[in-house]
Amino acid sequence: MNLPKGVEFIINRLDERNHRADIVGGCVRDFLLGKEPNDYDITTDATPEEMRDIFSDVRTVDTGIKHGTLTVMYDGEPYEITTYRLEGEYSDNRHPDSVYFTRKLSEDLSRRDFTVNAMCYNHKDGFTDMFSGKEDLENRIIRAVGDPEKRFTEDALRILRALRFAATLDFTIEPETSYAIHKTSHLLKRVSAERIYAEWRKLISGIGAYRILAEYAEVIEVIIPELTGLKLPAKPLFDEAEAEIRELSLFALTDKNNAPNSFTSAMLALKCDNRHRNFGKLVLDGLKMKTDSVPELTRLLIAAGEDGAMGVLDLKILLEICPPERKQTLKELLKGGVCYRISDMKISGNELLELGIKGKSIGENLSRLLYLIADGKLENERKKLLEAVSRMEEN
Ligand code: CTP
Repeated sequence: MNLPKGVEFIINRLDERNHRADIVGGCVRDFLLGKEPNDYDITTDATPEEMRDIFSDVRTVDTGIKHGTLTVMYDGEPYEITTYRLEGEYSDNRHPDSVYFTRKLSEDLSRRDFTVNAMCYNHKDGFTDMFSGKEDLENRIIRAVGDPEKRFTEDALRILRALRFAATLDFTIEPETSYAIHKTSHLLKRVSAERIYAEWRKLISGIGAYRILAEYAEVIEVIIPELTGLKLPAKPLFDEAEAEIRELSLFALTDKNNAPNSFTSAMLALKCDNRHRNFGKLVLDGLKMKTDSVPELTRLLIAAGEDGAMGVLDLKILLEICPPERKQTLKELLKGGVCYRISDMKISGNELLELGIKGKSIGENLSRLLYLIADGKLENERKKLLEAVSRMEEN
């Protein structure tokens, strides 16, 4: 296994001082899956004080030192090294009340969430795989380390991590682990919205998301009560759709009459970003608009803008209420310079002002003209638009 220079430096330095260090967790899992790891976590038998002494000539950051983590900077890159750790009680089902340092690698690996995340590696000792994580990776299985119920009760976020890994890696969840997920899912209520939302985004974008949503619908209800009685669209179309559209389809089907509002309240509770929430509401609102003809598509563009209109069509296609070809029609309309914004019109507010139209009436007139153009009742030509304004003013 090729390791970044910074990791080599840290492991070698600890080894020279008679301490063992390994890369651990997600980076080992990702490497064995043939993926480039996101970041490298290092685990060691050296205590935080020993680490500080060993790296006293290097820039380090102490942020996690109470929990045994020292950040070592190498070539401007941060690397986290954590002392082998055991965790105390988890009275909030999320964070250990206390942590204890240990010299035993086996104890550090036993406290981890899943077998595929509980392997470590260094060049000298090779892979250390006490819980058959490699075998589970080969068989595409998510299995808790030790007693699953204990793992999930310690840290309820792990329930969602299990679903997320199963969805993104397209793995199955081992039966006892699955049983414990169903049994402890109510504990997810105690996990912060931000953490839930981050996992949810990954889960919904996963290649195996459909299967996981169908199998764990009652877990989804705990994190998003608006999706109680979860309904899913057709699998092949869901699999093809973007994560954002997949998510909207769940709301559109599960809460048919109130989808824009239930989506908004769910996203507010999950503290998602405003862009995501506003876009979703826009698309769900647009779902009730007709999109069969060019004027209808143009009206949709006026209401939702280019991205919003594309989103509405993507969602309608996923819900099988609109033929896939409709997107091509919309693209061609846009390419042909369809007039759907006030700024696309060959007349401006200033010109209306010069005609003696004032205040609110300017916007109202422009908007009426825009809809007349959209409906094919008026050409987007300066002269014709000015005539139409005069006529509107006379009436
Ligand atoms: N871990 C755990 N319980 C958690 C979170 C993490 O036991 N709730 C352990 C696992 O061994 C995990 C490691 O800490 O592999 C690092 O966690 P993290 O960086 O959060 O996740 P990764 O497993 O690396 O996966 P990803 O980066 O895809 O989130």
